[in-house]
Amino acid sequence: MAGDPFNSADPLIGRKLDGRYEVLERLGAGGAGVVYRGRQIHLGRFVAIKVLHQHTASSTEWRRRFQREAIALSVLAHPNVVPVTDFGVDDGVPFLVMELLEGQTLAALIKEGPLPLWRALEIARQTLRVLAFSHIKGVVHHDLKPNNVFLQELPDQADHVRLLDFGMAKFVGAPAELTRAGVRIGTPAYMSPEQLKGAPTDETTDVYAAGLMLFELLAGRRPFVAESPEGYLAAHLTAPVPSLAQVRPRRAHAPLFQAVVAQAMAKKPAERFKDAYEMAVALEDVVARLPAAVVSVVRAEARRKPTPRPRSAAPSRSRFWPRVMLLVTVAVGIAAAVEYRRHERAKQAKTTEVPAAQPPKPSLPSPEPEPPTPPPVKVQAPMDPEPPERPAQPDHDAKAAVGARDPWRAPVPRPLRPIRDRIKRGAHLSQRALVPVYEFARKNPDDPRPWLLLGAAYAQVDWFKDSVERYLRAYQIDSTCRGDPKMLADLLKAAAHPVAGPSAARAIRDIYGVEAIPALEQALEHHRGDREATARLTRLRESLPH
Ligand SMILES: Nc1ncnc2c1ncn2[C@@H]1O[C@H](COP(=O)(O)OP(=O)(O)O)[C@@H](O)[C@H]1O
Ligand SMILES: [Mg+2]
Repeated sequence: MAGDPFNSADPLIGRKLDGRYEVLERLGAGGAGVVYRGRQIHLGRFVAIKVLHQHTASSTEWRRRFQREAIALSVLAHPNVVPVTDFGVDDGVPFLVMELLEGQTLAALIKEGPLPLWRALEIARQTLRVLAFSHIKGVVHHDLKPNNVFLQELPDQADHVRLLDFGMAKFVGAPAELTRAGVRIGTPAYMSPEQLKGAPTDETTDVYAAGLMLFELLAGRRPFVAESPEGYLAAHLTAPVPSLAQVRPRRAHAPLFQAVVAQAMAKKPAERFKDAYEMAVALEDVVARLPAAVVSVVRAEARRKPTPRPRSAAPSRSRFWPRVMLLVTVAVGIAAAVEYRRHERAKQAKTTEVPAAQPPKPSLPSPEPEPPTPPPVKVQAPMDPEPPERPAQPDHDAKAAVGARDPWRAPVPRPLRPIRDRIKRGAHLSQRALVPVYEFARKNPDDPRPWLLLGAAYAQVDWFKDSVERYLRAYQIDSTCRGDPKMLADLLKAAAHPVAGPSAARAIRDIYGVEAIPALEQALEHHRGDREATARLTRLRESLPH
């Protein structure tokens, strides 16, 4: 690492700790210490080693805190907590050994730009789940912020959350010591009113920080932005929670989460969710009310309940029964949903004739693998050719309908231009030709246009399921892009298709509702004579409000 200013001046690089670990390079640093990539010499494996900053290592207070972090991490064996494998002292310097994670912090990801809703929700849900587990185990984190949420990249999954940095953690009931003079008590931007005032803290303190983080995930910026610690102090103590609708007017569904954010960020701890579990349940409630087109891109896991309280942990009496009731309700809901889907699947297997031989695949090679981020949308293909009657679109959708626009009216970004031209000419595109589109999508997560192009490209080669997924992704990024000139026509082609039909029908219902009727009538006309396609489109027609 010679010449690297981040590493070259660090005397720990190259040092052997306790004869067992070799320190290789710096990975990151926070208020308490530095985290290094290291090697466990006898096993030859790479690890992460956290070492306290020199100035903190000499303080008994910090050393106690560091040891407590190691203990908290070992108590919290959970898939969303980084496993700690060792703790030692070398020449008076304590060190903590953890599994080495590949990925980046949430803070780094947010800096790249606002996240699509489904991705923001996925990260929020995983964070709340691990925080709920931590609370169940009696550990309050006290320093929740995007810098301490690590997004691990796994070969089969992006955005696996690992909650880091339990250096500020407190075991519930342990004597308060976080506000002693001279000890860092947190990061002003993410501190709760009670931390700022030096008042007692508990699980609701993490809930407050989780509210700040949820806002930032949904809005792409922090709720309070100040220039100085005093500015943050004033904001946390007195400023009202900003409106998501005002901060992100284009994101039709984000404001549905306003109530969750507002309750989590209540100035008075007693008015917040009691702990991360309650907040997680409230978040799931809102997710469950989202239109299916949006929900379907939230991963399958979204339906899973947060980690239940293990039997060994003694729940406080006041919270035990409400939790049991909640768990039972969630479990019954999940069982019902599973049963419903099984039933519908069986029904579909009977009623849908999947052609014996799929039409030969066109020149386009498999859409996989895509560039690693964003990960492929997992659309849970809806299995309901005859779905239960849906009420008219809720208010927020009606508003979105008014705001439909043709996103191609604005100047087309240069990397998308050649592909757009080729699609316009009706030319088929190879997967290689689509790589720049995925690349553009990754760099511009707030722009629906690359996904619209992909939707059109896949529709052109009759890959309708892939096409529907891409169109849904575009709609989910910006609901007004439904004014795209090809989207409805392609979704209707997909709706007539035996395999993509159900998911396309649902997408059309959610995205266009009654507005789809004139085009749908034309599609019915077009498919006259094709009994199967007509039946599918008629079912869609009947499921739309009259
Ligand atoms: N296990 C790990 N694997 C890879 N990087 C890590 C790991 N733990 C921490 N880091 C990196 O080091 C940074 C600081 O770690 P953290 O535990 O938050 O220290 P601090 O208490 O000093 O804030 C993190 O933001 C992250 O980038
Ligand atoms: Mg940290």
